[in-house]
Parts: sequence; C-alpha cells; structure tokens
Amino acid sequence: MSKSRPIEKINISTSTEYYDAIANSYSRETEKRKQYIISINEWVRDWLRSQLCTNILDVGTGDGKRLLNILQDVNYLSLSIIEPSTKLINIAQSNFPKSNFCNRDLKDCDFPKSSFSHVLSLWNVLGHVTNRHEFAAKIFQLLEPDGYFIFDVNNRYNIQNYGFISVARNYLKDILSKAEAGYFILRNSGNSTRVFIHSERDAIALMKMTGFEEI
Ligand SMILES: C[S@@+](CC[C@H](N)C(=O)[O-])C[C@H]1O[C@@H](n2cnc3c(N)ncnc32)[C@H](O)[C@@H]1O
Repeated sequence: MSKSRPIEKINISTSTEYYDAIANSYSRETEKRKQYIISINEWVRDWLRSQLCTNILDVGTGDGKRLLNILQDVNYLSLSIIEPSTKLINIAQSNFPKSNFCNRDLKDCDFPKSSFSHVLSLWNVLGHVTNRHEFAAKIFQLLEPDGYFIFDVNNRYNIQNYGFISVARNYLKDILSKAEAGYFILRNSGNSTRVFIHSERDAIALMKMTGFEEI
C-alpha cells in the first residue's frame, strides 16, 4: 500500500465564479489586508481630491465598500461601476444607488470612447483578467486624452508581503518555467481561481506598451 498522500483534487473556477462563491465572506478578506488597503485608499483619495474629476469609472469594484471610502469628499459628475460578479455587484448597488452599473467583464461593457476622466481598478483586478493587453487597451480607449488610470497590483517579488522563501521560489519559477511565470492559484474556503501576480517591471511595461505614461 502506498504511503503517499492522496492527490488533492482542485477545481479551478473562473474569476467570476470564484468571487460569487466568496461574496458573503468578501468583507473578511478585505479586513485581513486592512493596513495596506487604508494606505492606498488615502493616497488615491488625496490625489482625486486634487484633480478635476468629471466622469469616474471603477473597474472590478467588488462589494463597493472600498470605493465608498475612497470617494469621500471627492467631487465628480458621474460614477460608473463594472463588476462581473452578480453577488458582489448586488451589494455594491446598495452602496451607490445613483451610479451606472455594468455586471460584466470590462471587455463586454459598452461605453463610448473617451468617456472618463479617471478610471480606477484597484487590488489586483488586472491579475484576474484573461487578456491583460486587451484590458489595458480598452481602458486607454475609454479615457479622455488627458485622463488617468489608477491601478494597483500585487508584486510577486514583495519580500515584506510574501516572505524571503516564497520570493526566492518565485524568482526560480520565473527562470525555470517562463510560461508559468507569475501565475498562481488563489484559494479561499475550498474555492480556487488562477491569478496573475505581476512584477513591478511587468506592470509598467504593459502600461507603456499600451500607450500610457507613468506619473
Ligand atoms: C481583489 S477584487 C478587488 C475589488 C475592489 N477593487 C477592491 O479593491 O476591493 C478583484 C475584483 O475584480 C473583478 N474582476 C475580475 N476580472 C474582471 C474583469 N475582466 N473585468 C472587471 N472586473 C473584473 C472581480 O470580480 C473582483 O471583484
């Protein structure tokens, strides 16, 4: 008889299935990253307050609680929200009763070109999309010529967050298995999805290739 451990069977869900499945415990997830989220929120809020914001779009809003916090005392004309998870968007709708909603992937939402002065996409939304180049290009199109895209992604070389051993393993994987570099399985209470974790260089290169300028 084999002494080896039984092979764990993992069902990999799409991002939308995954976020639908964890929607009820989503706020507990954000609680775990509270310090990081608060610091980014403050930075984004202060920056938006210093700007002339007309139409804002938030892509991948989640339950909208974070957006509510960011937009405190920010002046704008309209707010549009994209969130493919029906369960999460239902929660977000109760937080923003006057906004425009699209309950689909960004690529399937129809907005005219140059509609927005500012597009936000926070907490590794970019790591969940199937085609990151198409995603960035669509945002570029949706922005006014002088518009801004504000996003943040996880960094697979972040020792403070992942620890030295994991980061060393990530460097090794990047060298030995180039096709899989940056791909990880995100797990939560029996649910899993495949996610891309950028390096700072990947993320900046993607944006520059799309036509964005770094500020
Ligand atoms: C980690 S959550 C971040 C939620 C929110 N931005 C926040 O900061 O709390 C990632 C979100 O991206 C959404 N998402 C994934 N793929 C997307 C896509 N192609 N277009 C729009 N949203 C997407 C997911 O449904 C999920 O709500």
